[in-house]
Amino acid sequence: MRVLVTGAGGHLGRAVLARLRSDGLTVRASSRRPRAGAEVEWVVADLATGDGVDEAVSGMDAVLHLASAPQGGQTYQVDVLGTRRLALAAGAAGVGHLVYISIVGVDRVPIPYYRHKLAAEQVVAAGPVPWSVLRATQFPQFLDDLLASSARLGPVIGDRAVLAQPVDPGEVAARLAARLVAGPLGCIEEYGGPQVLRFDEAVRTWRRARGSRRPLLPVRIPGRLGRELRAGGLVTEALPRGVRTWADHLADTYGGTGRR
Ligand SMILES: NC(=O)c1ccc[n+]([C@@H]2O[C@H](COP(=O)([O-])OP(=O)(O)OC[C@H]3O[C@@H](n4cnc5c(N)ncnc54)[C@H](OP(=O)(O)O)[C@@H]3O)[C@@H](O)[C@H]2O)c1
Repeated sequence: MRVLVTGAGGHLGRAVLARLRSDGLTVRASSRRPRAGAEVEWVVADLATGDGVDEAVSGMDAVLHLASAPQGGQTYQVDVLGTRRLALAAGAAGVGHLVYISIVGVDRVPIPYYRHKLAAEQVVAAGPVPWSVLRATQFPQFLDDLLASSARLGPVIGDRAVLAQPVDPGEVAARLAARLVAGPLGCIEEYGGPQVLRFDEAVRTWRRARGSRRPLLPVRIPGRLGRELRAGGLVTEALPRGVRTWADHLADTYGGTGRR
């Protein structure tokens, strides 16, 4: 199977490339800038402008669409219009399966980025290519970065009762690879990590792993956003779940010894 991976140089993209290569798929990887690698063919394509998109999908059996622009004011252009450009180009090229990675909670949690991801899911489902959507929960690195940036000025600031379910990107990559091999599902699947954690528990383990004494300064996120986040808008009961835990990520990253 020949597969185009968009956003292949990103955090999830790197895990996906490793997985698809080890599963023996022929991979074409796209990025906005020229990249080189011995084991995959890199092409340049920009979803915001459409440059290179027709060439990127040409000759592919499937497209695994990971590219996204959560920041920088380009989200609608890249995630919604760019996904439409990609779906139309893939349809014209005779691609047989478009797999889109989304996020658990895009249909519940009122965050502007999620609204665009939900719209992109709808673009994929209404498009000309048989499709699958996998909604994953947050990657542990995302939570780690969030805590580190919130603690930059002193205490870790957050709503104690928000629920999260970190999932290892390598396990998400394996799930996406299995979906490619199984073929189009025509519906949305969810996939989460092994544990649902309250924010204060996640912070406690994080502080311990980093040898940090920074206190948690609790705030209550107001309105519907806070209600959804505390009610489990970011978590899923779907089975199977990943195996690697938040503590596994922290042990790999900090080894339990650092003071930062
Ligand atoms: N982070 C999480 O916790 C999480 C959880 C569940 C699902 N997801 C989803 O998983 C996907 C990947 O997430 P990630 O954390 O790996 O993101 P990431 O590291 O930011 O990678 C996203 C990639 O999108 C590409 N991109 C941005 N603008 C583009 C454009 N105009 N045209 C083409 N490509 C463009 C970038 O590639 P170049 O710079 O190489 O062009 C970038 O490497 C996203 O769709 C995200 O919504 C993320």
